[in-house]
Amino acid sequence: MLPSPRPAVSLLPAYRPGKGAAQAEAEHGITNAIKLASNENPDPPIDAILAAIAHAAAGAHRYADHRATAVRERIAEWLGVEREHVTVGAGSVGLLQQLFLTYVDHGDEVVYPWRSFEVYPVYTRLMGGVELTTPLTAAHAFDLDALAAAVSERTRMVVLATPNNPTGTALRTTELRKFLDVIDPRTVVVIDEAYREFVDPAFGDPVRDLLVDFPNVVVTRTFSKAHGLAGLRVGYAIAHPELIAAIDKTLFPFAVNALAQAAAIAAIDARAEIAVRVATILSERSRVVAALHDAGWRIPDAQANFVYLPLGAATDDVYLALERRGVVTRPFTGEGIRVTIGSATENDRFLATLHETSWQAEHRSRIAQS
Ligand SMILES: Cc1ncc(COP(=O)(O)O)c(C=O)c1O
Repeated sequence: MLPSPRPAVSLLPAYRPGKGAAQAEAEHGITNAIKLASNENPDPPIDAILAAIAHAAAGAHRYADHRATAVRERIAEWLGVEREHVTVGAGSVGLLQQLFLTYVDHGDEVVYPWRSFEVYPVYTRLMGGVELTTPLTAAHAFDLDALAAAVSERTRMVVLATPNNPTGTALRTTELRKFLDVIDPRTVVVIDEAYREFVDPAFGDPVRDLLVDFPNVVVTRTFSKAHGLAGLRVGYAIAHPELIAAIDKTLFPFAVNALAQAAAIAAIDARAEIAVRVATILSERSRVVAALHDAGWRIPDAQANFVYLPLGAATDDVYLALERRGVVTRPFTGEGIRVTIGSATENDRFLATLHETSWQAEHRSRIAQS
């Protein structure tokens, strides 16, 4: 007899990371696979960041600053907020887990649109919380009226990924303001902006546009995507100082390691260079979207570093056809596949492979008829 986990843990779906290229190669007996499955940055960290990481590595026998004071200060300065409004965590998923630990008790309701980021149900169930979801619109976007109607006095937390993973659609701060106006200020509203740097600036900035008026809002962001530091795990949150102080209590000791802290500061210093890289990803995204439109695809508005193909029942067939040809994407069975914007060569390969597969013509005619 072995010890059994808490029922909430036994019932948990395991988090499914994107499949790696090597794994796909082994499974399909192929070589030269590319991974477009985890919304990673196609480029390694820039030289100044690598140098900062190497420098910090020399001090790895010491614990890091638990509170990551220097990182918080630099983020606050960068965003133009007071440093009491900022905290950091082990990736934004680390911060999301802290938010659930801080605010969601057994039996509390957590509301979010679905399909969205896969950790939300995992964390809700881990806390013994009750999930309440609202469906996406026909455009694969969030329906904020339906969401507002679903929120009640039992709702402790609302979680909104903007842009949404996996559909890529984003919310404007004007829409968010209307939603927040009708939400009880005792309900925490998390705005998960992991892909913030890829969004059209016309959508607004929740930190600038919303935080002053809505002290129940927490914005989470990350260095994983635009800054290319996914492997180091550093994310940050901006909110009212009382919320930040509460969230901080759940940060496990030294969660943001010394290399991650050094890299985050170097990334803020290198923001001009990083902006150039982001611009390249955005121009690649425009190119991929245009090519898909030309090929007859109707896809949701892409505001992050990926595109979403709403394939419905054809999802697994398409996903497998691509993967057998060495293009690894992220499938959501029965719904669609998410494809990360990679380097120009990788994107060309994805487009050519998609074109080459026979199901495409069939699918195109199906969506054209619908
Ligand atoms: C919506 C969303 N939030 C958060 C994250 C996690 O990012 P991090 O690497 O900062 O934990 C992701 C990563 O895929 C995401 O899609």
